[in-house]
Amino acid sequence: MRGRKYIVVIVLSWLIALSLAFALAFDRSRMERAEIAHAQALAERGAEIFAQNCIVCHGVAGQGHVGPPLNVPGLKGDPREDTDLYEMLYNTIAHGRPGTSEPTWYMLENGSWASYTAMPAWSQEAGGTLNEQHLRAVVHFIMMGDWNSVNRHVPPANLIVDESGRMDRDAMIARLPAGSGLSDAASVRGREIFVDRACIACHSIGGLGATVGPDLSKVGSWAANLTEDEWRAFLEAWISDPTQVENRLPGYWSNYGGPILDVSDLPQPSEPPPTQMPRLGLSEEEIHDLVTYLLSLR
Ligand code: HEC
Ligand code: HEC
Repeated sequence: MRGRKYIVVIVLSWLIALSLAFALAFDRSRMERAEIAHAQALAERGAEIFAQNCIVCHGVAGQGHVGPPLNVPGLKGDPREDTDLYEMLYNTIAHGRPGTSEPTWYMLENGSWASYTAMPAWSQEAGGTLNEQHLRAVVHFIMMGDWNSVNRHVPPANLIVDESGRMDRDAMIARLPAGSGLSDAASVRGREIFVDRACIACHSIGGLGATVGPDLSKVGSWAANLTEDEWRAFLEAWISDPTQVENRLPGYWSNYGGPILDVSDLPQPSEPPPTQMPRLGLSEEEIHDLVTYLLSLR
């Protein structure tokens, strides 16, 4: 009798221990699944933040333009485990990085280009627009997100449409900013060309338009280190044929006055990458009138 009781007690306590272990293991894997789901949700949110803030310099697929490519294997990892990489990305995005005083295009080993202008600081403490949650999300995205998903989040062009859903050309022209120091006629003429020649399909001014190319709301004051004649000459050449402009580094991105990055370790400077801005076939007169308008945007 005593022997049997003893066995029952042993079996029972084994059963209890086993079920406890099961419960713990199950809980652990549930926690892990919840953590992974949380990380994935953060990465999704990060793709959105990337589409809104970073594609102008790093490209829609993270392939790099003004800034280096970010879609490289070296930046992939598990945000919980690869803490050094996580911190490096977080700090770079939060605090920015100095550029070179004379940015040039560099061909990287993976075949993409980087210009090594300055990387802006994004954290709110540093005067940027992203809070800690945003920064964590965008780091999760770079480390574990899907680069093909950025496209879905590129903000749609902000256009005024009529009842049939087509762009209301006249309303667009009326609503674009007038610019400063221009006659009404010159301002309207510039805005007409901007809308009719499709600049609006890729650029915005005063919040109207698209975000494929840089926002041109203050393009008149970008090149603080150039005379107005030099800036006009650059813009005319650029609009006439972007593919023929050798150093197309945006004037204001190149206006970097901070500490100089040591570029001696980088691959050699190379030809610039092909631009995404097409040749639009404007007449000389159209280009002149359009640039008069652009220069008045300050
Ligand atoms: C005005 C252009 C510009 C914008 C906008 C920009 N970057 Fe950058 N970024 C750069 C440049 C230039 C560098 C290279 C800086 C260096 O290393 O000196 C860089 C570097 C980086 C790096 C470091 C990459 C590496 O391999 O070390 C990360 C990460 C990065 N950017 C993320 C972002 C994110 C995220 C955003 C949007 C929130 C963003 N960048 C917006 C220009 C930009
Ligand atoms: C299909 C899209 C697209 C269209 C249309 C387009 N652009 Fe651009 N533009 C871009 C992109 C992208 C850039 C960024 C630079 C690059 O990729 O080479 C750019 C850059 C610029 C720049 C900055 C150049 C620099 O280096 O500082 C100006 C100014 C500009 N575009 C003006 C215009 C004007 C004016 C029009 C209409 C005549 C126009 N763009 C039409 C895509 C476009």
